[in-house]
Amino acid sequence: MAAPSPSPRAIDKLTAALKGNTLVRILEDFEARFPDAHMKDLVVDDVRGEREVLIEGKWVTNFGSDSFLGLDRDPRVLAAIRSGLHRWGSHNGTSRAFSSVRSNADAEDRLADWLGIEATLIYPSVTLANHGAIPGLVGRKDVIVLDELAHNSMQEGAKLAQAGGTRVATFPHSNPEGLEAALSKLRPYRLALVCVDGVYSMGGDLAPLAALREVASARDGVLYVDDAHGSGVLGPHGRGTVRDALGNYDDAIVVGSLSKAFSCAGGFVGCTAALKKLLKIRSNTYIFGGPVVPAYLEAIGQVLSILESAEYDRLRSRLDGHIDRLTRGLEALELVVSGGAAPIVSILVGDEADTLKAGRFLFDRGYYVQSVLFPAVPYHGGVLRVQCNANHSDDAIDGLVSAFDALAHSRIKLPRKGDRRGWGTAVLDKVAAYCAEKLVG
Ligand SMILES: Cc1ncc(COP(=O)(O)O)c(C=O)c1O
Repeated sequence: MAAPSPSPRAIDKLTAALKGNTLVRILEDFEARFPDAHMKDLVVDDVRGEREVLIEGKWVTNFGSDSFLGLDRDPRVLAAIRSGLHRWGSHNGTSRAFSSVRSNADAEDRLADWLGIEATLIYPSVTLANHGAIPGLVGRKDVIVLDELAHNSMQEGAKLAQAGGTRVATFPHSNPEGLEAALSKLRPYRLALVCVDGVYSMGGDLAPLAALREVASARDGVLYVDDAHGSGVLGPHGRGTVRDALGNYDDAIVVGSLSKAFSCAGGFVGCTAALKKLLKIRSNTYIFGGPVVPAYLEAIGQVLSILESAEYDRLRSRLDGHIDRLTRGLEALELVVSGGAAPIVSILVGDEADTLKAGRFLFDRGYYVQSVLFPAVPYHGGVLRVQCNANHSDDAIDGLVSAFDALAHSRIKLPRKGDRRGWGTAVLDKVAAYCAEKLVG
């Protein structure tokens, strides 16, 4: 008689259950069906020059970096990080609830001066800022209302608040009347935290901040703007979208990134000095997690010196030149293109297999761009996502446009602007919306 087979270990049952998850099945199916074209989860073996990366044994120009101003390669930024390492060692050694290094306090003060806001509080990332500050700012008597396309990290922050008893609702994308209706429905409440992105990076659209604040302010609401894609790269001196749209920070809290255009590490909340003090007490990711590595905090001052100088305008106009050159080239090919407010440009492909093959086609010609598929975008709404950086060369931009030209004339089918009237734009709008919600990194 055969011995009874041992019952599966719990950990194997867990793995099997996860493999049955719809999203896992879809992604594993893509990987199995398109093993050569499936360029996800890549390993970069080396970097050289300003924007070249070594992937799978091939040097390619990287059009997938959100270091928009190219400061990740700037010798002054690198020197500041080195000097920070020398000064503080590799680690802070404790939660900030106990102590922070001087560079952390200095970076917060300098960020506040640059933004023209009373105070800032630095977290290890924007995600952790949203997961800490959003539930920290509200209680059981309050409500959170999110733009339906608000970044995933705000939605997750709202779920934490919801677990603590705060009611959560959404309003239609960038629609002040929709916000008004949502707030009326939620009455009575003590305070409403209205969460939006400053710039929806795939669609390239900016939130109508002034109109949203007007609605919020008149209804006991405070606007909470995640400006991760705006900070360091939009507005005068890279101050982002909020100050210039609103003229001040009344009834507004702003969140910025220190990783993307800043090319350091972390995120920050900009608010009143009183709220900063309260967030230090009420924000769990601040209290129970470690801080940004001190060396990177030293570099923030260096980045701010660049942003506050005339050099920012030079970097920004170089970037604008690249975006313009790229979009004009792509539009001349009649491709369906979106973006441009942030230095992100998306090209519609549609079919999943074609999107992957198109990404591989460009890679084989020396250019890495991101192939974005369902569920980050709607099914059959695949896009190629190009991120322009100030330190790309003009030749790299022209070379990428030529590679797109070859792609447009290859057997891989890319939709053209004239294809079926209105089809391209309608799909792209949907794609942009989905990307803003799910992807945007
Ligand atoms: C609007 C927005 N919020 C938050 C994040 C996450 O930022 P971080 O990588 O600092 O957690 C991103 C980007 O990746 C973003 O676009």
